[in-house]
Amino acid sequence: MKQKLFDKFAELFGSSEGAHFYFAPGRVNLIGEHTDYNGGHVFPCALTMGTYAAARKRDDRKMHFYSMNLDTFGVVETSLDDMTNKPEYNWANYPFGVVWAFAEKGHPIDSGFDMVIWGNIPNGAGLSSSASLEVLTGVILTDLFGITDLTMTDLALIGQYSENNFNGCNCGIMDQFASANGKKDNAIFLDTNTLKFEYAPIKLDDAKIIITNSKVKHSLVDSAYNDRRQECTDALAALKTKLDINSLGDLTPEEFEANKDLIKDPIQLKRAKHAVYENQRTIDAVAALKAGDITKFGQLMNQSHISLRDDYEVSCEEIDILVDLAWAIPGVIGSRITGGGFGGCTVSIVKNDSVDTFIDSIGKTYKEKVGHEAEFYTVDIGAGASRLD
Ligand code: GLA
Repeated sequence: MKQKLFDKFAELFGSSEGAHFYFAPGRVNLIGEHTDYNGGHVFPCALTMGTYAAARKRDDRKMHFYSMNLDTFGVVETSLDDMTNKPEYNWANYPFGVVWAFAEKGHPIDSGFDMVIWGNIPNGAGLSSSASLEVLTGVILTDLFGITDLTMTDLALIGQYSENNFNGCNCGIMDQFASANGKKDNAIFLDTNTLKFEYAPIKLDDAKIIITNSKVKHSLVDSAYNDRRQECTDALAALKTKLDINSLGDLTPEEFEANKDLIKDPIQLKRAKHAVYENQRTIDAVAALKAGDITKFGQLMNQSHISLRDDYEVSCEEIDILVDLAWAIPGVIGSRITGGGFGGCTVSIVKNDSVDTFIDSIGKTYKEKVGHEAEFYTVDIGAGASRLD
């Protein structure tokens, strides 16, 4: 991959001398969905799929971005003297937004740079290609400009800040955090309230984690996401009229049940219920995993799906078909929607003996029912973002 990127870099920018090679992963979340902006827990892991870059500093104030996946956009040129999001920059608004966020957070860069990227995260699949691009840009900026006082968590926060304020999606911290702090063969048990985290080794001797890509992405995903977030904020405000809490993640299910009547709006009530119970499920799932009880982990994944489908309403027909088919296969320990929702992927834990049946039978029936093929990836848990050379 490095050679291809560097050849392209040389073709576009004269030579690749002095350029460096970087990588940031995508992520899959095992459990803890739509809890990260509610002060709850999440349990994602970084993938070995991600975004690669070759990058080099320039002497002037221009930035050049080129994607080998989206080459029809050609080289996108932006400038440090006009740091505004422009629709024609398209995908390059993600790396550009990180440059803007560095300046906003007190780390302005003093010259431009050239950057060529190529990624193998399927586009629009909900496996965090944009977070990976943000964290990748953060790593590149700290490396090229000698910024030494930012941790990987800081880079995740800056990536999230840019996505919230430059690119208009009010996402939580999970995706950027996983891309920045991923660890090979480990998932990350993160408390999004404190950003304290611990690694949990994922050693499944007789099972595999399989991602199934529905290859659908429904429109208005960002606005539906922002609506969910607002509904949770409103539910929290209703609870705060009586309770001294900072987030829905502060409540146990029992405390929630005792106080839920404060939330008058039925939609807000369902959203808050999901956030509170999902947080508890995530805590319980990690405890089950540590205790070696993968069956319980799988049951909690299934409950997570039901809650995301019925109370949070972020699933869709195609994803429900995938999950229902998975649940019907003996040897499937758990299966659920993963990521923001409204399409994208499911994540399933499948016994080794059942993997072939899982892929063949779901693949066939999904195609019959939906009209196009699903894609399957066996999860390989990789490390967080870094410079590779
Ligand atoms: C998207 C967001 C994350 C998180 C998930 C849902 O991936 O970027 O912050 O909220 O949805 O869990």
